[in-house]
Amino acid sequence: MKVKVLFVCLGNICRSPGAEAVFREKLKKHHLEKDVEVDSAGTSGFHEGEAADSRMILHAKRRGYSVTSTAREIMPGDLDTFDMIVAMDANNYQHLMGITKNPTQKNKVVMMTDFSEIYDGDVPDPYYGGSLGFDKVLDILEESSEGLIDEIKDLYSAKFK
Ligand code: 4NP
Repeated sequence: MKVKVLFVCLGNICRSPGAEAVFREKLKKHHLEKDVEVDSAGTSGFHEGEAADSRMILHAKRRGYSVTSTAREIMPGDLDTFDMIVAMDANNYQHLMGITKNPTQKNKVVMMTDFSEIYDGDVPDPYYGGSLGFDKVLDILEESSEGLIDEIKDLYSAKFK
């Protein structure tokens, strides 16, 4: 089986595309890229069809990550398709919990910093801020991704071939 992970933020142009790019690289590092599928979505459709924010693309590129996603709004079917649905902040989390229809779906919704040893709470929205905000987001995403890899290994490694 493949584990399917969906990263979710508001616009799907800054944080969740960054999370997707960082996490893909971490999967390669841990030789898990064939076992885990990654996607991202927004709780809003404001930026549907757009490439990621150029500031996120640039800051991620400086750290060796390639941000390639196209923005889309989360769909009800995602709550069944994906195994883990990873919210960037508390608003995203509340939105996701609000559209879940059963306990199985609710159990899939987690916060990105649940997997961090040093960060807590929100991955802060960098959209209206400056460069520092994007670097902060990437710091949090890098550190949390390592914890998420550990969690996936714990939960699913018996099912990987
Ligand atoms: P994201 O950032 O949720 O990390 O993609 C934002 C992108 C766009 C807007 C807000 C946050 N916006 O208001 O358009």
